[in-house]
Amino acid sequence: MKKNLLTIGLIASASLANAQNLNQPPVMGWSSWNTFDVHISEELINGQADAMVAQGLKDAGYNYINIDDGYFGLRDDEGNLMTHPFRFPNGLRGIVDHVHSLGLKAGIYSDAGSNTCGSGQGTDDKWGMGVGLFGHEKMDCEFFFNDLGFDFIKVDFCGGQALLDRAKTDLDERQRYTSISNSLKATGKEVSFNVCRWAYPGTWIHDVADSWRTTGDIWCDWTSVRDILAENLYLSAYSSYGHYNDMDMLEVGRNMSEIEDRTHFGMWCIMNSPLLIGCDMRTIPAPALELMKNKELIALNQDRLGEQAYVAAKIGDCFVLVRDIEQAQSGIRAVAIYNPSDDAAHVILPLETIDLAGKTAIRDLFDHKDLKAITNGNLVCDVPAHGTMIYRLEAEKRLERKVYEAETAFISDYQELENPYARFSGFYEYKPFASSGILAVNLGRTEENDLCWKRIYSKEGGEYTAIIYLSSKEDRNFTVEVNGKKAARLTGNSSAWDRIVPVETKVILKPGLNEIRLYNAGERMPNIDKLEIIKL
Ligand code: GLA
Repeated sequence: MKKNLLTIGLIASASLANAQNLNQPPVMGWSSWNTFDVHISEELINGQADAMVAQGLKDAGYNYINIDDGYFGLRDDEGNLMTHPFRFPNGLRGIVDHVHSLGLKAGIYSDAGSNTCGSGQGTDDKWGMGVGLFGHEKMDCEFFFNDLGFDFIKVDFCGGQALLDRAKTDLDERQRYTSISNSLKATGKEVSFNVCRWAYPGTWIHDVADSWRTTGDIWCDWTSVRDILAENLYLSAYSSYGHYNDMDMLEVGRNMSEIEDRTHFGMWCIMNSPLLIGCDMRTIPAPALELMKNKELIALNQDRLGEQAYVAAKIGDCFVLVRDIEQAQSGIRAVAIYNPSDDAAHVILPLETIDLAGKTAIRDLFDHKDLKAITNGNLVCDVPAHGTMIYRLEAEKRLERKVYEAETAFISDYQELENPYARFSGFYEYKPFASSGILAVNLGRTEENDLCWKRIYSKEGGEYTAIIYLSSKEDRNFTVEVNGKKAARLTGNSSAWDRIVPVETKVILKPGLNEIRLYNAGERMPNIDKLEIIKL
């Protein structure tokens, strides 16, 4: 017996696209959670869809209307999902149709376990019990995507974790999300799949989802934005076109200062996060609306190269992040100078640090302003406390990158779910004595617990000196592998954990992109600060 949710026939779909590899730019849209929590309704969701169009946000590129937690209404006797009797008495089909009629896409929410976060945490106790995908995955996926026509799903993990789950189930994330991914594929529909496990789950996620949350929940406060950024600055190696680190839904336009809103939005753009508006779109303060419609920042977020900006340097308290845009390895790059501190900063950034030289055109992407071209090799700017400057640079010359920070390298076994010491997997640690403030630590002991720079560019190829800056209080060995071939076996010992020393070897690079990997399959490795490559 079906109650509130009526299945209205199958929506014909000839598409056999791989549901989890849509290969699209980061999702842009709106989600109900940040402002409305579980207090949502058909009227509210439809009203937000209308507002997205009326406020010009659809024209700016936003197109997903995502229903988060709060719509559930238990299951019927046959296991069919029902909607909340007061909030969604007519089910969801009318909403999806309304959203589609506006030329927008519709997103839905569920859990990898049996119960949702709302039910586990007491806000929506009664209605979220037993409504997660666990045990009902195939029927729910058919329902959401074939019957109702949703285009996106966010899958949480409250019901999969004994700590939060009423039934105290402890499920395996990899198994659960892979299985859900396969059920999504089986629908034959193009569905964008967002995994919400509140931490980077492991490199397996790249085969499973289009985007994945990397942190706990955002809230509307500067410290939350600052801390989420701190947890993502070292994740650039784990994002590529079509696969994104999700820093959570936007709090822009709610309660932060205009400067903080700019940092929040600008950094989400340059770091390739999905852009899901979290405020009430019917009443957005003018500066926030203008900011979220900023065409140049949106173009940066949606750039076809799909690179997440990486940390190139730290100047005082400011992090310098850079990425290629428009054309790889050209003189065109986007740079952010991000000041998380509580004091204003005057920054002098030598262009060489971001691999540019010669006369450089500079455009302020927040204010849509061309500034006076740089002719003396230094980008100079004032960055307010909690502020960020984001520029598009177009330089006469692109230099070969010399410095590859450890926090821009990939650890094949990287994960944030289990204690890295217990599991022995490498991670990135903030250390004031490290060159850009971050070291890669706890490496070695297994083949996969390595450190790999996957995009070392050499224009012409040839012989280089590779200098590895490391710290270790004892002799620790590691192998240097270049493009899959052993190049050297080195020993590092800096005599103290907080002291960095260089160790060097010769390597041969081929023209174009190269991979340099450091590993020790049997023993612990030294901590790694950065790699420098110098052409001979
Ligand atoms: C978790 C998620 C949030 C939101 C809530 C809903 O906390 O991380 O983004 O979906 O659940 O209950």
